[in-house]
Amino acid sequence: MFILGISCFYHDSAACLIQDGHIVAAVQEERFSRKKHDPGFPKNAIQFCLAEAGIGVEAPNYVVFYDKPFLTFERLLMSYLTVAPKGLRSWLEAMPIWLGRKLHVHKVLQQETGYEGDVLFTEHHEAHAASAFYPSPFSEAAILTIDGVGEWATASYGFGRGNDIALLKELHFPDSLGLLYSAFTYFTGFRVNSGEYKLMGLAPYGMPRYKELILSELVDIKEDGSIRLNLSYFDFLGGLRMTNRRFARLFSGAPRKPETPISQREMDIAASIQAVTEDVVLRMVRHLHKETGLKNLCLAGGVALNCVANGRILREGPFEDLWIQPAAGDAGGALGAALSVWHRYLQQERRDPAGRDGQRGSYLGPSYSNDAIVAFLENNGYPYRKLTREERARTIAEAIAGGKIVGYFSGCMEFGPRALGARSILGDARRSDTQTVMNLKIKFRESFRPFAPSVLESKASEYFELDRPSPYMLLVANVREERRLAQPSEDGRPMLERLKTRRSDIPAVTHLDYSARIQTVNPDHKPDYHAVLTEFEKLTGCAVIVNTSFNVRGEPIVCRPKDAYRCFMRTEMDALVLEDCILFKEEQPPWKERADWRNDLELD
Ligand SMILES: [Fe+2]
Repeated sequence: MFILGISCFYHDSAACLIQDGHIVAAVQEERFSRKKHDPGFPKNAIQFCLAEAGIGVEAPNYVVFYDKPFLTFERLLMSYLTVAPKGLRSWLEAMPIWLGRKLHVHKVLQQETGYEGDVLFTEHHEAHAASAFYPSPFSEAAILTIDGVGEWATASYGFGRGNDIALLKELHFPDSLGLLYSAFTYFTGFRVNSGEYKLMGLAPYGMPRYKELILSELVDIKEDGSIRLNLSYFDFLGGLRMTNRRFARLFSGAPRKPETPISQREMDIAASIQAVTEDVVLRMVRHLHKETGLKNLCLAGGVALNCVANGRILREGPFEDLWIQPAAGDAGGALGAALSVWHRYLQQERRDPAGRDGQRGSYLGPSYSNDAIVAFLENNGYPYRKLTREERARTIAEAIAGGKIVGYFSGCMEFGPRALGARSILGDARRSDTQTVMNLKIKFRESFRPFAPSVLESKASEYFELDRPSPYMLLVANVREERRLAQPSEDGRPMLERLKTRRSDIPAVTHLDYSARIQTVNPDHKPDYHAVLTEFEKLTGCAVIVNTSFNVRGEPIVCRPKDAYRCFMRTEMDALVLEDCILFKEEQPPWKERADWRNDLELD
């Protein structure tokens, strides 16, 4: 039995196909459309999923949408009526697309794909909860979902047992931790629904000087972790912006304009809202533990991508173990909705044995055979060398150890926002200059942004204060004390100066506060990547490399060989691995393209 899950129309549209409860494929539409966070109908993603199973659009027994559009519409209408006539402009802007497409998923699906059958709908947080629990390795677990908003809910909690999920309580719009974080994302000059990650990365540069102010003026945190926002500071009910003038006065000045220099104020604001967020999440988690008495916790919703908060849940929270859906944002709703139909609606038992997760490393997207890669390279006349199985890992490890930055394209693409060694750019974690080179010459992105390590799972605890696997790069932990280097006093030193200081023996992946966002790599999920790390360790004695997503700023992660080649040639990447083929930059023909190609990418 096939079930197709779809999420779309807000951000990060995606499709997922399951067969008898087993995930066949899952992918975000942005990877095909090349439009970052593409909210459009996921036509390409659906086609890919069906093709993976070798079936036509008439074949799925059920198609399910991850959200109930009429409930969301009701919320928008009520919000508008609360603030009317203010907000008329945004209301008028939103209406045509609602009346034309968003309310009529069934019709759109029929028009775009020819699917004639029925469409089921799950609630938004039900889809998040299902995406967190069903693929997890736990037979029973508490579940917490936190995001901006879905229909009315902004957070929910409950528990999963066997094939059933019970959601016990919800927090409702406009009281939303996700929206609060997004408001600060906007105010500090980053893009809402995409720059939240940057705000989190900026936090260690600042002091939480505004934390008390936020708690006294903006948000009231209850004992159970539920929150009340003081709406007199926010504009998201009716406006086109997140925060208002009163908010700006509170933080002594206007919002930072995007792409202007980041000042100490923004760094301190980032540290403050991050601290508040962690407090709220920890309270929610403690309350949930008290309510359920369970040992394990599953997380999803956009806020679950806050891996700094996740690290604290693990270290300071009451749960013994934690599993986070790698596609925690709305893309994962497609997966959750499909699994929800299988397990809740059709009452089917979970088939993955306890103790092993069903996400398969999240390598659920498109892959390309060596034959397809060779044909692509030959057709275009791009010089390459085919590596034998024996020399492959060694050659790649040698390139990285020699200071080369390597594009690594191998196997099925990752589902979710993180690159996990299928569409990654790799570099040497031991070199102090890797971070700057990668930020400025490869990714063309802000120099303050940290990079994440991939580490052999068996060696992770030798490098980091982490006692368990983190295969999905969703946990932050500190570099071990004995690897750290003493630091000069930070106060007053400009950001770029502070960046240059070597902080440990793996400086390229050690953030300002010695933290690292860790991906542990095991041979079961990703043997090819594990082999590269193993060879790198043999060569250098170091089991850690830098892993960043294979894209430039504003671009979705590369999906096809031609996306990878273009990204390779546009940047100062030194080598490109496409499955078993390796390409070196100096051997490639000159890349001809308009000099202003970056203008085509909307900066995120
Ligand atoms: Fe969501």
